[in-house]
Amino acid sequence: MNILVCGGAGYIGSHVLKHLRAKGHSCHVLDNFSSGHEWALLGASCSKADILDQAALDKIFSARPFDVVMHFCARSLVAESVTDPALYYRNNVSGTLNLLETMQKHGVNKLVFSSTAAIFGEPQEEIISEAHPRQPLNPYGHSKLMVEQMLQDFAEAGGLDSIALRYFNAAGADPEAELGEVHEPETHLIPNILLSLLDGESRREFKIFGKDYPTPDGTCVRDYIHVNDLASAHVLGMEYLFEHPGAHVFNLGSQRGYSVLEVMQACEQISGKKVNYQFAGRRPGDPARLVASSLLAQQELGWQAEYSLEQIIETAWNWHQSLS
Ligand SMILES: NC(=O)c1ccc[n+]([C@@H]2O[C@H](COP(=O)([O-])OP(=O)(O)OC[C@H]3O[C@@H](n4cnc5c(N)ncnc54)[C@H](O)[C@@H]3O)[C@@H](O)[C@H]2O)c1
Repeated sequence: MNILVCGGAGYIGSHVLKHLRAKGHSCHVLDNFSSGHEWALLGASCSKADILDQAALDKIFSARPFDVVMHFCARSLVAESVTDPALYYRNNVSGTLNLLETMQKHGVNKLVFSSTAAIFGEPQEEIISEAHPRQPLNPYGHSKLMVEQMLQDFAEAGGLDSIALRYFNAAGADPEAELGEVHEPETHLIPNILLSLLDGESRREFKIFGKDYPTPDGTCVRDYIHVNDLASAHVLGMEYLFEHPGAHVFNLGSQRGYSVLEVMQACEQISGKKVNYQFAGRRPGDPARLVASSLLAQQELGWQAEYSLEQIIETAWNWHQSLS
């Protein structure tokens, strides 16, 4: 398959890219490197371009035939989306609209899109299924939900088949430690704990936001999913699209939640080091618990998460150690 991987230099995109190439697919990356890294391409061909640049998109689609587009490009910092919503609507919504129009112009009609648990907002169920109400709490979540709506509308109008994969908390790293998570700033729990452990004597203090949530130990519960499990879902999703036209949505998680304290204890066990932590106040907009039902992905795609929390942390720990 000829695949255009938009955002393939980023954290999740680069892991999916490696997986696709290992499966023999021919991949080309489009990335503006706003948060991606050249090294993460592992030698894949790449056009440095912005999805907001219509002319650049035209050039890329004219130069090569693509069967499928995988679209990882986004701004994804929740707090930044609150202070600068225009940036999020422009990049995530207008950018995606440019991409969809260019695909249609060039006769490319299959898209796999990175959506998120942030479209759901405050959970109303213990385990979140695809049917859960969608009430995002911030412009980031709204921008992703708007794209899901666009994908529905484009499919109904005919000619664009898509699958939106709603990741819960992506985590972990390439088991060969060639790839891993490097975000600036880093807002994700596991890399932040592990980075605090690597800081040596002057160890950064790790902050736990909130200790009075209605969860068993008072800290937030999240569903962690290994990037390689996401990669296998992308391949299955792409194959599914060829058999099932239309616009589809799937939640991707492990169906198991872990609290911040549980994750921290697992990190301590795997690294053999003690985390220097302190409790801080709750962050606005952080739900107590976010856990996915992945039943639909299991039934329709034949997908389920394979990596345990321990394997997620082990691969991430190996990656972070390899950088220091
Ligand atoms: N990391 C998570 O836990 C998580 C959870 C749910 C959803 N997501 C979604 O998954 C996708 C990938 O997330 P990630 O953590 O790998 O993010 P990332 O920031 O590491 O990767 C995004 C990539 O897209 C590129 N990009 C951004 N805007 C672009 C533009 N206008 N033109 C061209 N390239 C552009 C960046 O340079 C980067 O390489 C995002 O859409 C994100 O919203 C991530």
